[in-house]
Formats: sequence, C-alpha cells, structure tokens
Amino acid sequence: MSKYLKTPQHIAFIMDGNGRWAQKRGLPRNAGHQRGIKALEKTVDACCKHGIKYATFYAFSTENWKREKQEIDGIFSLVRDYLKDNPDYFSSRGICVKHIGDISAFPDDLTTQLTSTEKSTAKNNKLILTLALNYGGRDEIVRTFNKLLGKGKKVETYKEISAQLDTCFLPDPDFVIRTSGENRLSNFMMLQLSYSELYFPKVLWPDFDENELKKALKIYSKRDRRFGGIK
Ligand code: FPP
Repeated sequence: MSKYLKTPQHIAFIMDGNGRWAQKRGLPRNAGHQRGIKALEKTVDACCKHGIKYATFYAFSTENWKREKQEIDGIFSLVRDYLKDNPDYFSSRGICVKHIGDISAFPDDLTTQLTSTEKSTAKNNKLILTLALNYGGRDEIVRTFNKLLGKGKKVETYKEISAQLDTCFLPDPDFVIRTSGENRLSNFMMLQLSYSELYFPKVLWPDFDENELKKALKIYSKRDRRFGGIK
C-alpha cells in the first residue's frame, strides 16, 4: 500500500546516464549498462512495493543503432543473459514481462529468450514490466499507419489508432522519469505521453534506487493533472 496521496498507475523510465556513470570510473560503457540492469531490478522491486501497476523501461531505441557495434552487442547480450539467468525473479514477484518495439531486427537468441520469458510470465499480474526494445515513437507510428492502411478503413477516432499501437495493452503513462538531467523525450511514446507528468532528476541511471523513486513519487503526488480541463 502506498503512503502517497496520488500514486501513478504507469511509470515510464528513460534510463539515461549509464555511459557517463562508467566514464566517471574509467570503465567501459557496457559496465554502465550492466549496473543499469541492477538499477532496473531495484526500481522494479520498489515499484512492486509502492503499488505501481505498470513500469515501462526504454532499453534500446531505434536511434541506438548509431552506437558502436561492440556497445550494441553488449546491450543485447546483457538483456538476453539477464532474462535467461533469472527465470524465477519475475514469477516469484508476480511480474508479467512484455515488450514494445520491432524486435524482428534483433539476433535470434535474444528474440527467442524474450518470447520465452514473455510466455512464462504471461499469467502474472502484480506488475506489467514492459521493455522498449528497438522502439521509437515515430517508427511505431509508421508501423501503425501501415496496419491501418492494410485494413482499408477510415479512422474516425484516436481510440482506433491507439488499439493498433505497440502499447495497445497498456494505459498511457501517468509519469515519465528521465535520469541524468537531460530534459527531453527522445522519441519515446510520443502519442502516449501527451498528458503525462515529466520529471528529470540529475541522478545517473545506475544510481537510481528506491530512495530516488520515493522522491519522484512525492513530486508526482503534488502535481495537478487537468487533462486540458479547468480546476
Ligand atoms: C542510456 O544511457 C542507456 C541505454 C541506451 C541502454 C540501457 C539499457 C540497459 C540498462 C539494459 C536494459 C536491460 C534489461 C534487462 C532490460 P547512455 O548510454 O546513453 O548514457 P550516457 O548518456 O551517459 O552516454
């Protein structure tokens, strides 16, 4: 049970700052991503504890292909191994793992592992943990547009569009947390974040933990959401 007056149902995390965290310590960038997974796990535990129902993490964007092959391969191996080596972590906590994004471009071992984790956790419902993988808001819109064109039907409402987005199984995020002090959204769920509250703490993602989540929840509980209406 949360002690906050208003708790977001869905938090979207932009896990920024892994590279800088590693650089500060003279370590390779992938050491930052590795610590990033630990922070993700702490954050997921804290979300379960504070009654968050949906947590979505931007793990690999459509723009991240511009990075060095070594870093990209490193991220893919980290995600695959994390899912493979922790089969009981999700189910013991009632976590259902899902993804958004076009994973067809990923190596087979990663897509096979992801599909298997999604299948084995499908019935869990305490927390829906969504990984955004090869995800970009604009790419999602292009793919959705083509799906709708294929149906050959005139679209009349946004609801008909949202039902075809990768996020069709999710409510819109209430709250977006982007770490590392960068104040931008970087092509993350551009339609779904239309009315989300935004928060940009300075902490680098590998240092994010329950304490940081509590600070964020306190800030969210003071926000006044009006969705275009008046008070
Ligand atoms: C952004 O920091 C981080 C990423 C692009 C990768 C994040 C991926 C993980 C933490 C792994 C996720 C793992 C699972 C299991 C989902 P950056 O590299 O852009 O940092 P910088 O801005 O300091 O360089």
